[in-house]
Parts: sequence; structure tokens; C-alpha cells
Amino acid sequence: MTVRPIVSLLSGPNLNLLGEREPEVYGTDRLDELVEAATRRGEQLGLSIEHVQSNHEGDLVDAVQSARGRTAAIIINPAAYTHSSWALHDALAAYDGHVVELHLSNPAGREPWRSTSVVAPVATATISGLGAAGYPLAVDAVASLLALDRDG
Ligand code: DQA
Repeated sequence: MTVRPIVSLLSGPNLNLLGEREPEVYGTDRLDELVEAATRRGEQLGLSIEHVQSNHEGDLVDAVQSARGRTAAIIINPAAYTHSSWALHDALAAYDGHVVELHLSNPAGREPWRSTSVVAPVATATISGLGAAGYPLAVDAVASLLALDRDG
């Protein structure tokens, strides 16, 4: 059996409320549906998706640390920690694989405080503003980045 590279999909605070939370901004899909869509795309592309959601900054830092040396990439929707968490920034800076920053909405087009991402400087790529479609697209992005690493 071939061992499939693992991709950590990390979801920050309040994303457990997706489906109920501001559907006009974030859409009507629940988080488990988004994870399912990403997992299915991963299966098609030979990647194994491992998901963690937490409302706690330290838990997300722990999840990034536990991905080190073990997973091929991180896809992270840091939610509000995008705009504030230097701890997450530093944990991601110490991660050895690709990081894809993911948002359902386009934070840059919303309130001014959402325009700053402290995660962006340590991300290889960012996907935002595509709603639920961004989840399988983030997996496509990881597959492309891994293929580039492999084949140039
Ligand atoms: C979000 C955008 C953030 O600004 C916000 O705090 C979230 C969700 C998004 O997916 O659009 O919780 O990351």
C-alpha cells in the first residue's frame, strides 16, 4: 500500500459555528462539510487530510508543532487569529512544509483591521474570497506545490 502524504487542515476560533454564523459572509456549509470536501479532493490527489479545529490559540500552536516533520503541508484558516496571533506566526515559521492560508471571505475587502494578516508572511500561498470552493482548491494548491518540489 502506498503511504499518502498527510496534510494538516487547521481551523481557528468560531469556525465550529459555520452554517449558523453570519451565513451572508461565510456561507451555509458547516465545517464538517468543508472538511469532507477537502478530504474527498485529497483522496483524488493521493493526500490524506487530518483536521483540527480549536477556539484556543495554544491548541492551534500545538497542532502546528505536531505537524512538524510529520506532515507535508498545512492548510490553515486561522479565523480571527489571522489578524493577531504572533504565536501562530512563529509556530508556522518553524514548520518545515508548505503553508496555505485559507479564508472563506475576502478579509481585505472587509473592516480595515482584517486587512492585516500576521500569517501571510509565513504562508506559501493564500486563498480567500471563494467561500466553500476554497477548501478543495487549497488541497489542489498543496498538490501543485508538492509536485513543483518533486518535479521542479
Ligand atoms: C475568516 C476571516 C476572518 O477575518 C474571521 O475572523 C473569521 C473567518 C474567513 O474564513 O473568512 O473568523 O478567516
